Amino acid sequence: MQIIWITGGSSGIGFATATEFLKNGWKVIISSSNENKLKLAAKRLEKYNLNNLLHTIQCDISLKKDVNETVTFIEKKIGKIDIALLNASAYSPNKEQIFDISNYELLVDVNIKGTLYCINKLKDFMNGRNNTIAIVASPLGYRGWPTAGAYGISKAAQLSLSESLYFDFKKLKINIRVICPGFIDTEATRQNSFKMPFLKSAEYAGKKIFNRLTKGKEFEIIFPFLIVYFFKFTRILPYKIYFFIWKRLGNF
Ligand SMILES: NC(=O)c1ccc[n+]([C@@H]2O[C@H](COP(=O)([O-])OP(=O)(O)OC[C@H]3O[C@@H](n4cnc5c(N)ncnc54)[C@H](OP(=O)(O)O)[C@@H]3O)[C@@H](O)[C@H]2O)c1
Repeated sequence: MQIIWITGGSSGIGFATATEFLKNGWKVIISSSNENKLKLAAKRLEKYNLNNLLHTIQCDISLKKDVNETVTFIEKKIGKIDIALLNASAYSPNKEQIFDISNYELLVDVNIKGTLYCINKLKDFMNGRNNTIAIVASPLGYRGWPTAGAYGISKAAQLSLSESLYFDFKKLKINIRVICPGFIDTEATRQNSFKMPFLKSAEYAGKKIFNRLTKGKEFEIIFPFLIVYFFKFTRILPYKIYFFIWKRLGNF
């Protein structure tokens, strides 16, 4: 039986992906920092959990001790992790464009350090096993967006980290993959005050992630293709054009 650990599996993309893996007979461990949210998620997943394949573990990824204990518990008591989906993230758009250091600290702690803590412990167990660590980043990491400084640096860090570890972890026989969704309708993006182009449901994202993680081996998983490629294209624009586009889009 194959096993997936999904951080941030209590809502949004993580929850939808957990649903797909459960439906397809995988053993699924979802974790998140809020115990009540996890309990609610487990209740919603009951109908797909006919063979007791679902486990929930409270784990705040910004706490190294929590992460170390969680990975060790899964590996020793539940089974060997085939895929770790590092999906948990904090999100807080800064509509007023006010520099708030506590917001930066939170996103660095959860999205960057939390991801690093997970990888640090997973590598000890996964070494030589040909398993997969998939990191959920974002096109917001491709370039600096107005109102998204804290989130943007955390996602840019995850993208760069994924590329570096893709090479370095080959030697450990651990496959690194990166997932970049476009706009997906979740608790996080409901905080956005702008109209999100090509907005898709969390269920759509869950299905895409399940299919691509289980049926393909490519480094990068992106969806919907058109909008993410548009964001990718902005990477090569000179500053003059890039800043002009934002000026046309709003009062930035
Ligand atoms: N939605 C989009 O349009 C979009 C686009 C591109 C990339 N993404 C990425 O997709 C991933 C999932 O986002 P989402 O939109 O599905 O957001 P979401 O619904 O807000 O889910 C975030 C998940 O992360 C968990 N989490 C937050 N802080 C945590 C912590 N300290 N420790 C452990 N878990 C924590 C949350 O649960 P608790 O509150 O219980 O901890 C929740 O389960 C993120 O990495 C995000 O950057 C999303």
